[in-house]
Amino acid sequence: MKPLVTLERHGDVAVILIDNPPVNALSIPLRRELLEAVQEVQADKVLRGAVIACAGRTFIAGADIREFDAPPPEVTTGTVNAAIEAGTKPFVAALHGTALGGGFELALACHARIMAPDGRVGLPESRIGLIPGAGGTQRAPRLAGALAALDLVTTGRHVPADEALKLGLVDEIATDPLRQAIERARALAANGTLPRARDRAVPDMVSAETRAAFEAAVATASRRARGAIAPVKAAEAVGWAIDLSFDEGVERERLASLDLRTGPQSRALRYLFHAERVAARLPPGAGHDARPWPVQHCGVVGGGTMGSGIAIALADAGLEVTLVEASAEAARAAESRIGLVYERQVKSGRLAEDMLEERMGRIRFATDLDALAEAALVVEAVVEDLAVKLDVFRRLSARVRRDCVLASNTSYLDINLVADVVDAPERVLGLHFFSPAHVMKLLEIVRGGRTVPEALATALALARRIGKVPVIAGVCEGFIGNRMFSSWRQQCDFLLEEGATPQEVDAALEAYGFAMGPYAVADLAGLDIGWATRKRLAPKRDKRARYVPIADWICELGRFGQKTGAGYYRHGNGTREVDPVVTALVERASVEKGIVRRAVPQAEIVERVHAAMVNEAARILGEGIAQRPSDVDVVLVNGYGYPSWRGGPMHEADAIGVAEMLRRIAAIHASDGVGWEPAPLLQEMVNSGRSFADLNL
Ligand code: COA
Repeated sequence: MKPLVTLERHGDVAVILIDNPPVNALSIPLRRELLEAVQEVQADKVLRGAVIACAGRTFIAGADIREFDAPPPEVTTGTVNAAIEAGTKPFVAALHGTALGGGFELALACHARIMAPDGRVGLPESRIGLIPGAGGTQRAPRLAGALAALDLVTTGRHVPADEALKLGLVDEIATDPLRQAIERARALAANGTLPRARDRAVPDMVSAETRAAFEAAVATASRRARGAIAPVKAAEAVGWAIDLSFDEGVERERLASLDLRTGPQSRALRYLFHAERVAARLPPGAGHDARPWPVQHCGVVGGGTMGSGIAIALADAGLEVTLVEASAEAARAAESRIGLVYERQVKSGRLAEDMLEERMGRIRFATDLDALAEAALVVEAVVEDLAVKLDVFRRLSARVRRDCVLASNTSYLDINLVADVVDAPERVLGLHFFSPAHVMKLLEIVRGGRTVPEALATALALARRIGKVPVIAGVCEGFIGNRMFSSWRQQCDFLLEEGATPQEVDAALEAYGFAMGPYAVADLAGLDIGWATRKRLAPKRDKRARYVPIADWICELGRFGQKTGAGYYRHGNGTREVDPVVTALVERASVEKGIVRRAVPQAEIVERVHAAMVNEAARILGEGIAQRPSDVDVVLVNGYGYPSWRGGPMHEADAIGVAEMLRRIAAIHASDGVGWEPAPLLQEMVNSGRSFADLNL
């Protein structure tokens, strides 16, 4: 078998070269070979130092996630780090690409780090429910300070080279990090100094005030974790770097990391890591190897909140964008809306000031669809009205290139009807962005009946380029996410009629880990869109189905949520307050149905909402709208605030058991009647003893 590690001699300096594609993950065999290479350098009479570098696109991007279900191995990254630090020869890390997790921990144990200008470093373990286990939480604060390390380990963010240098996490930025690292190793060997992170004191913890600032930052990080254990543990571990000896801190960190590894949260997050990557692939079968068409110039039709957000998302990824609005005035409004977003980003430090002009420069504003003649892909984002959309597509079809991908940002409507009115229906698909489109990660790619694999491949490639998490969905009312959302929202409304209040439902789901409860979300998104949809669907509604009129009554009062200052809540300056007007409407709904209101326990709220999600998802899966249960989880976590550390509703359903889920749904059916029949797939799964995970295969 080809070795994963080779040792090259450059005079008196060794280059330990790691080659384990695609991301040089620190697997068990790699760690073993790496330890042998380190020991060989230490024992060699000629070699005076070594460089650790990687072949391919990146330095080590972390431990091999696929091995985390196995028992902990004999040779850990900590073993390799200890071998480096125990010796008398300098080791220098040459970093390029993304040096993450165990890879960055290895680099931190080296005596110096040289980084490529476009490289990134980070300790993202908390994103997969872990904490660094090879000294990362102990060395990073000693180099960059406790506050910076806390941010690093609790957010898991990737730090660019210039910031890493400023923080002291790396020593130098070089266009040829390998060559520079060899020089550095030689220089360190020559002057006999071996700077070790472990020997340093945490630099910023010098007074009671700085300590208090640290404790406050820990409290904030814990609050933001919303039930996730790993960021809280990681914050605690940074505290050990301040209070304990290095060896004690490292040992505690190792034990905590092992503990988390076998826990349900890390399992759930690892499952999601894999699920997101599977969702981003073309469906198996014919056309699974289709190649994307090149896209550089994109069009956006409509510059409202969604259209502007989409234009920003595209421009941020370096694409050229032409945004077409109906009038000069509307185009100017879109321009100022986009300008405002960028200005806010500059103010908050998320965007460098000199980048503002460049980003704005990538977006052209026009009032004529002819401006899209050269676009390779156009996203329509006009009002959610089929007639208006069809008119846009008819006109677009006559103006764009024959090979232009035509996408609608509809959140509910039938893409096939759009395909009917254009010349090239095989290039039509849905690109359902979530609001705000430049922030939210999820992108539902809706595959029409005639969409060809190349168009899908183009949409998937675009999603990757603009940093979205794509999921392919079939055509139906609301696709995957909104169809499920409307089902569990109905269940929430039933709970209101039975005795809960909007704030109680929100509190229960927020305690479960949702970023925001459904009524707070509704107020944020605006109630008028849902109202319009309900009116549109009213003729189709089964008159026997349970219907709760509270939302309609609220809209009839002109309360459309935050934008009108009131909806389910009264909104002040960033605050939401319970409104007696709404409480009265909720109580009236119960009275009109003759329901005696009762206290609804939090556990019941969560259980019924979850059951509604799972039942609708099982229908969606049965109809082939979603390809696999893990796609549903990716949608819920990335678009609807479902707590990622729970893995998603389907992952959770497996933990509860499909038979128990079926029992819960049957109970809902018994009480809520028409529309709540258990999905046939659930009964089939119970009969065949299959779990949702089995359907992912
Ligand atoms: N272990 C095992 N496999 C890994 C991996 C890891 N730590 N990191 C990435 N991979 C695999 C992915 O599963 C994917 O495999 P696939 O092609 O079979 O789907 C492949 O490497 C490429 O990863 P992908 O995420 O698609 O590429 P990217 O260029 O968008 O991103 C990274 C690269 C490294 C930034 C990203 O994969 C990442 O964040 N990895 C996890 C890093 C991490 O958490 N490290 C700490 C672990 S303790």
